[in-house]
Amino acid sequence: MSSDKARARLEAMFAVAPVVPVITIEKVDDAVPLARALIAGGLRAVEITLRTDAGLAAAEAILRGVPEAIVGLGTVVTPDDMKSAAKIGAAFALSPGMTTDLLQAAVDFDMPFVPGIQTASELLACTTRGFELVKFFPAVPAGGLAALGALSGPFPTVRYCPTGGINEANIAEWLAHPQVVAVGGSWIAPASDIRAGAWSAIEARARSAAALRRRT
Ligand code: 3PG
Repeated sequence: MSSDKARARLEAMFAVAPVVPVITIEKVDDAVPLARALIAGGLRAVEITLRTDAGLAAAEAILRGVPEAIVGLGTVVTPDDMKSAAKIGAAFALSPGMTTDLLQAAVDFDMPFVPGIQTASELLACTTRGFELVKFFPAVPAGGLAALGALSGPFPTVRYCPTGGINEANIAEWLAHPQVVAVGGSWIAPASDIRAGAWSAIEARARSAAALRRRT
């Protein structure tokens, strides 16, 4: 897949699903009810992180059991992780950072990939290889909207999915930035709620995030 095609595919996904819950899941059995709660609340995209042993199998369970979900694999930090994303049929992959090996693996495995960046140098390493849709991480600790606005000056064609420190209180201002195509965060489905099976609380938070998006 060309980098233009990968970017177009990512932008089309984020146009229908601009709020992406970042999920850390400990039990595979929680995956399908969690995804159903998010979808009932109006959020179709999820980032299932590889931070736990259950992450990959959880992403697979959602891909099999909840076909309307748009499943991204997150915390992709090695080429092998990228290979896993392709193998299970993930719609996209994300990383908190970027290495040239990871960018190459995305090309090799034909995977729409959102690399993580925080600096102009990292952004350059991505854009020179055709990756123009990036995760700004960790968005709030790294300088928030002021930092993203400053990066946007020299990189006007780049689009961002910021994550890290985004929540119900600040999501609207992030989504209002013209270069932001999606935002991610763990506040919608925190690990403690997943552990407790608090599906209606997760659904309610998803609903209010989805409604916020409609107002912007
Ligand atoms: C991520 O991996 O994108 C972040 O851990 C999400 O950050 P948050 O927990 O501050 O939402």
